[in-house]
Amino acid sequence: VRGRASLRPGNTTAVWRYEGKLLQGEAESLQAGDGYLGPTIRVRRGQRLRVEFTNDLPEPTTIHWHGLHVPDDMDGHPRHAVAPGQRFVYEFPVVNRAGTYWYHAHPHGRTGFQVYHGLAGLLLISDDEEQALSLPGGAQDVALVLQDRNFDRDNRFVYPSGGMGGGGMMGRGMMGRDGTGSGMGGGMARMMGVLGEKILVNGRQLPSLGVERRPYRLRLVNGSNTRSYKLAWSDGSPLTVLATDGGLLAASQERPYVMLGPAERVEVWVDFARWPASGELALHSLEFDPGMSMGGLALPDGARFPVLAFDLRSAGAAGAVQPPRQLSQLPAPQPGMAVNADRPKVFDLTMGMMTWGVNGRSFEMLEASSEETVKLGTHEVWEFRNEGRGAMMGMVMPHSMHIHGLQFRVLEREVSSRFAPAYRAVQAGLVDDGWKDTVLVMPGERVRVLVGFHDYPGLFIYHCHMLEHEDSGLMRNYLVK
Ligand code: C2O
Ligand code: CU
Repeated sequence: VRGRASLRPGNTTAVWRYEGKLLQGEAESLQAGDGYLGPTIRVRRGQRLRVEFTNDLPEPTTIHWHGLHVPDDMDGHPRHAVAPGQRFVYEFPVVNRAGTYWYHAHPHGRTGFQVYHGLAGLLLISDDEEQALSLPGGAQDVALVLQDRNFDRDNRFVYPSGGMGGGGMMGRGMMGRDGTGSGMGGGMARMMGVLGEKILVNGRQLPSLGVERRPYRLRLVNGSNTRSYKLAWSDGSPLTVLATDGGLLAASQERPYVMLGPAERVEVWVDFARWPASGELALHSLEFDPGMSMGGLALPDGARFPVLAFDLRSAGAAGAVQPPRQLSQLPAPQPGMAVNADRPKVFDLTMGMMTWGVNGRSFEMLEASSEETVKLGTHEVWEFRNEGRGAMMGMVMPHSMHIHGLQFRVLEREVSSRFAPAYRAVQAGLVDDGWKDTVLVMPGERVRVLVGFHDYPGLFIYHCHMLEHEDSGLMRNYLVK
């Protein structure tokens, strides 16, 4: 990881980024990331991944392998932060299914700041099951990382300083004076979340992506700090979903739109041979009601905006192809295997005086309560409740709940009647049928998940992936023993 100085103030955006080179292994397993993103790591299931990491930043950081099943000392827990100038070797076998994963910084209180300034990259896993499907590959296999950012007049990132979680002292020159671009006071934005008015795809403002008239596999990653997306095609045709966080679904599914909370991924299949008569095709984010919205934002959460336009490069018709319908062997979740099948553990997302928490408790580096302690080799049902308990003025907003070190299954969702009308406008976009490591919990919702603690004991975290929520307390440990 290196800081890169701004050479020409006024033009250059200073970023923090992962720089990598392949020391050993298959030649195609590391390729430069787009924009400021770190290198894209491609691995096959069953391989061992070894990353020799040096922290060249002026502050501690750690790398979390988002979605991967790894031992606790390899997971990038904030207690394993690597000090400036220090080195750490991450090494583990890759046991996850084929899919779209990512990695990013995870130091305590500074995750939002560090990811905002560039510390994230893709990790793509392949396996035999996926390869037998012959999904679109090569230039037709495109990962799209969606992030929103604010810039000042000199093109520097604007990330609010002030108040919360130890932010604001480091890297001063890289930030605006305050959260001015976000239209909120810094302390408030550091608590409620940072929303950018510029949508970046793969670390740049992409006017359009050139495509050919043939099928593509698009891997959509929400790498935003706080923003959720309601993705839809501009011509109103449904999205064909192949995979979610933890890889392929049992069969492809058509959805009118797909909700993507921070850190969630979805893979869609699209045949650009079906180019619409109007001659234009784009991916949009549609309007939805995020429960509460803060005033003064140029692009509030739930606003409608274009994400990416496509530019048809070759006119030769290839004839539309269908995606494979059957994709994967995916057993239905078995809630009965949970040790607490009929008494789900409740994790209430709560708010106190300028701090978030779970069941009223904020993050403590080494603390796990008794309900956060689980037995190795068991399954449990956890219920995330987003009912605004403790919040001022009944403020409720979406939360994107992520559990480290494992993939889980979503069992059911329930929404309170007060939020039902808003919920109906997002419901069809919640793709819950596959393996997940992050689940969007909408205002007024209770979401039950089935979690298995298989073979790695230790201390892991779970948290909201709205990074400012995480940095201001909406994170806790769970202990597997
Ligand atoms: Cu992608 Cu703890 O996070
Ligand atoms: Cu949150």
